[in-house]
Order: sequence, then structure tokens, then C-alpha cells
Amino acid sequence: GFPLEVDLAPLAEGQVIKVFWRGQPIFINHRTPKEIESAQTADWKSMRDPQPDSERVKAGHEQWLVVSAICTHLGCIPTEHQGNYDGWFCQCHGSQYDSSGRIRLGPAPLNLALVPYKFTADDKVLIG
Ligand code: FES
Repeated sequence: GFPLEVDLAPLAEGQVIKVFWRGQPIFINHRTPKEIESAQTADWKSMRDPQPDSERVKAGHEQWLVVSAICTHLGCIPTEHQGNYDGWFCQCHGSQYDSSGRIRLGPAPLNLALVPYKFTADDKVLIG
């Protein structure tokens, strides 16, 4: 499929949007300073699918999280700004993801999947 260019300029801090790439839903989260801080300072080594926030976002663009919107348990789409971790709550069976999209609680085995993307400008991202 073709890459998808998304203009990030209209996204307010704290706003999450869903876009579709190759028929898959993708979350783009304009993270708040609080969400960035909690993602960076959480003890990632003790997580179920251990990964530092720095490997899930692009250096210099830490306010943007771009991840698959498909719960890694059984494929529901989690709801943003819910749960205990500044992230997502999956209504299907209660998985909770943090502001880096990492699994923190509930049955899901893995973090929300990363997708390939790059910044073509400070406020433009090319997914794919
Ligand atoms: Fe998300 Fe089961 S599909 S918790």
C-alpha cells in the first residue's frame, strides 16, 4: 500500500486521533508533558513486554506516539485517556496500556505494536 501522510498541526496537546493505514487503525497521540514524563520514568524493565519509551518514539519528537490501535489480546480497539496509566483501556477484557502504548495490566500479552513512520517536517508524519 501507499504511505499515509498525516498533518499533525491541528492536533492539540492531549488529543488522540485514529487514522487508517493498510486498513488498520493507528493511534496518533499528541502527548502532554505529564504523559511524556510518566512514559519516560516508568520502570520499563519490570513490564510484561519490556521496552523503554525511547524505543517507541522518535528522538526530538517525543510528544508524538504513533502505534497500532489494535489490542494485542483479541483485537478490540482500546479507548484513550482511560485506565490508570495515562493511556488506553480496552473495554473488551480490561487491558490497560500506558502513555507509551505499553501493556501494564490485564490479559494482553504485548505492547501496542509499533508501525513504520518518519517525520517529513516537524508537524507532518509519513506512515508506511
Ligand atoms: Fe483487549 Fe481483550 S481484546 S483486553
